[in-house]
Amino acid sequence: MKKRVSILISGRGSNMAAILQAARDPAYPAAISCVIANRPDAKGLETARAEGVPAILIDHKNFASRESFEDEVHGALIAHGTDIVALAGFMRVLTPHFITRWDGRLLNIHPSLLPSYRGLHTHERALEDGVKLHGCTVHFVVPELDAGPIIAQGAVTVRPDDTPDSLAARVLAVENALYPRVVGAMAAGRIALRDGQAIINGPTSEASLVSLA
Ligand code: GRF
Repeated sequence: MKKRVSILISGRGSNMAAILQAARDPAYPAAISCVIANRPDAKGLETARAEGVPAILIDHKNFASRESFEDEVHGALIAHGTDIVALAGFMRVLTPHFITRWDGRLLNIHPSLLPSYRGLHTHERALEDGVKLHGCTVHFVVPELDAGPIIAQGAVTVRPDDTPDSLAARVLAVENALYPRVVGAMAAGRIALRDGQAIINGPTSEASLVSLA
């Protein structure tokens, strides 16, 4: 039986769409159980519906506390038989109340080469610092923001004429290639969280992706 992956989004959903597309291949090790958005204007909800994937809006504004919002999300994940949760542009901070329930089964993609540039505005900050390599990181989620064990990274070279937008676009292309591979390897049981480290069993080709474009 394929592991069931649910995806949490807040907006555009290009990483979600990349995972849905990968999951169309019968050989892909994960089945997509549902997509949940915390914002009514999340474009990715329409994309998921068009793909025939259950797409659920759970508007965090309708909840009195972070925990009550998280309980609703957790309930929907369980109702859809979720084994693994992938955050994909999910812009709501999750508390330990939620994170501990999905320990070792909760992934995130962040648009920087962690541990550099946790938080927001990563592309602007990378350009300001004049770094020559930038990229994205897939990591296990722990309560500290963007600080969980690193599973995989994708890198791009920074060009002298890059703007935050042009750099973001090249990083996003690498994100869209990397995340489905990592989610697939995770669903295949090849990635685990052990003693605070991400362990990859078998070929480690999922762990890095470099675009020199
Ligand atoms: C991506 O850059 C992701 O790394 C970050 O938010 C963005 C989401 O993009 N967490 P999308 O919604 O997947 O297109």
